[in-house]
Amino acid sequence: MRIGTLGAGSMAEALTTRWAGQGHEVMIGARHPEKGAALAGRLGPGATSGGFAEAAAFGEAVLVAVHAEAAVEVLEAAGAREGALRGRTLIDCTNAIVPGRFTLGAPMAELIAEATPGAHVVKAFNLCHVDVWRLTPPVFDGVPLGVPLCGDDPGALAAVRTLIADLGCVPLPGGPLERAPLLEATAALAIGLWLGEGADARSALPPLSHAGIEDGGQPPVPGSR
Ligand SMILES: NC(=O)c1ccc[n+]([C@@H]2O[C@H](COP(=O)([O-])OP(=O)(O)OC[C@H]3O[C@@H](n4cnc5c(N)ncnc54)[C@H](OP(=O)(O)O)[C@@H]3O)[C@@H](O)[C@H]2O)c1
Repeated sequence: MRIGTLGAGSMAEALTTRWAGQGHEVMIGARHPEKGAALAGRLGPGATSGGFAEAAAFGEAVLVAVHAEAAVEVLEAAGAREGALRGRTLIDCTNAIVPGRFTLGAPMAELIAEATPGAHVVKAFNLCHVDVWRLTPPVFDGVPLGVPLCGDDPGALAAVRTLIADLGCVPLPGGPLERAPLLEATAALAIGLWLGEGADARSALPPLSHAGIEDGGQPPVPGSR
């Protein structure tokens, strides 16, 4: 798959390092050419770099990997309003978490979708710290990391499921893009527990065996009875 990035920071590096290693073609899109070129150099001979518009034009899948406050501006620089990302898989890993309060500053998937007419936005990779995406593979207690993804377009979801599997992770269907705010809120809650309280956010959820699923039926909604 041809993958472009908007951003040349930690998330772009962690994810594209793994994807390039799996044989995907990567173009790093950066505002400072030397940073993009340096990252592309670290990725290996097949990787290239350019500006935001070039990376958007290159990618069948394009990863938005800039600070949340810069995302819409960067998409505009990439030509998104003019349709540069029409028909592309646009991967949104951003979190607009208010430092110290661990609340959400903006609904990122919604803002990104509004800014990119015709793109197939998929929210994913926003729940874990960048160091997790550097693990080869991310496996904890013998269980590969599950990566929830939310999106509407079947082809885009299939592409992101492939990219998740290429990290050694397991795609978890999170539903349509209208559910992406739940992923953003989950990140805020977990980061608040981890950073704010030093608590293990993972311990908040029981295993599937204790999810309250009755024989062949839907699980009851916790608290509904
Ligand atoms: N780090 C994590 O653990 C983590 C985990 C999950 C999700 N995320 C999300 O992933 C996204 C990227 O995070 P990161 O950790 O990769 O950040 P980062 O290492 O600080 O990199 C941010 C990138 O955004 C670019 N950028 C920042 N402001 C810009 C602007 N106004 N215009 C153009 N480019 C701008 C930076 O360019 P320069 O290098 O030129 O400054 C850099 O390439 C964020 O939305 C974050 O919430 C991060």
